[in-house]
Amino acid sequence: MAEAAIEPGLPIVELGAGYGSVTRFLPENTVSVERDPARLHALRTTFPARVIHGECALNALSALHEPTVVVSSIPSVNNPEFGALRLSVARAMAAGTVRKLVVYTYFPINPFAGIFPHEQRIGFEMLNVPPAFLWSYTC
Ligand SMILES: C[S@@+](CC[C@H](N)C(=O)[O-])C[C@H]1O[C@@H](n2cnc3c(N)ncnc32)[C@H](O)[C@@H]1O
Repeated sequence: MAEAAIEPGLPIVELGAGYGSVTRFLPENTVSVERDPARLHALRTTFPARVIHGECALNALSALHEPTVVVSSIPSVNNPEFGALRLSVARAMAAGTVRKLVVYTYFPINPFAGIFPHEQRIGFEMLNVPPAFLWSYTC
């Protein structure tokens, strides 16, 4: 995911950083977003030098003001809020502020199908528990 997220000259915003298993592989200047207070506290303790916002991913997406790479760990299945996230991503892509999106899912689906001009399954990580499908979306 980290390799896919790095695009020279573009900032990276990580949504749903959780306890930081993806965060630790992203560049130091990545801005991470996590709304759960306990996970936010854990993230800030583990990564004291990072910029980490305790807010909803929807707010973070609507606040983007320049072309950005977004990495998201927010679940797409069994998440009643996923439709709102999908819509926010679609709006930000149309506005030109999400240039690339990188996500993973534990299910054999394409979670952001039909939003970006280019969508690609970039990997299947067997070492993750459970194994994860990785997807990349670009304009
Ligand atoms: C699958 S977990 C993250 C896994 C992460 N890679 C880790 O290392 O823990 C998804 C995370 O997204 C966060 N989340 C879900 N919906 C969110 C939203 N709308 N805004 C911000 N964070 C959200 C949850 O609190 C949770 O920490």
